[in-house]
Amino acid sequence: MSVAVCPGSFDPVTKGHLDIIKRASVLFEEVIVLVVVNVDKHCSFSVEERCEMIRQAVAGMENVRVDSYGGLLVDYVRKQGAQAIVKGLRAMSDFEYEFQMALTNKKLLPYAETLFLTTSTENMYVSSSLVRQIAGFGGNISDLVPRCLVKPIMERLQRAPSADCGA
Ligand code: PNS
Repeated sequence: MSVAVCPGSFDPVTKGHLDIIKRASVLFEEVIVLVVVNVDKHCSFSVEERCEMIRQAVAGMENVRVDSYGGLLVDYVRKQGAQAIVKGLRAMSDFEYEFQMALTNKKLLPYAETLFLTTSTENMYVSSSLVRQIAGFGGNISDLVPRCLVKPIMERLQRAPSADCGA
């Protein structure tokens, strides 16, 4: 059975992520969306919240499941019997970091291939940090995240505007 892991922070999951997950689910018999627990990175949403949001976004995609893991990605890939790691690439600016991770993972688990899917043009600018920033100021995130998540994300992240700098 062909199995791919789509790893990430997903803080929160965006339309860009969802597009990559959907396209991976056409290529592989099973896709595991993996929320990677990174203790060095502050996240706005808990691991459980991030998993739950992804579950809502992928509802109806029969061969996609959601999990979380706090260790090395390759250990998870091996334990699941997966053959591939699927990531989305938006721009050249993503490339250096992604290339380093792909080479590292290849070194640690040579049989697992990292596949990069190029983002769809409409999602080129979309990122989780942009979503957090816009939602924090009460802006419109409906083009950036799956429709079912707009309300819960706004409710969690929208904050009162802070006092101006006095200018
Ligand atoms: O969405 P992100 O934050 O760009 O995802 C990065 C992620 C989670 C895929 C990466 O940090 C990762 O794989 N972490 C797990 C730890 C690991 O395996 N590190 C060695 C390979 S770089």
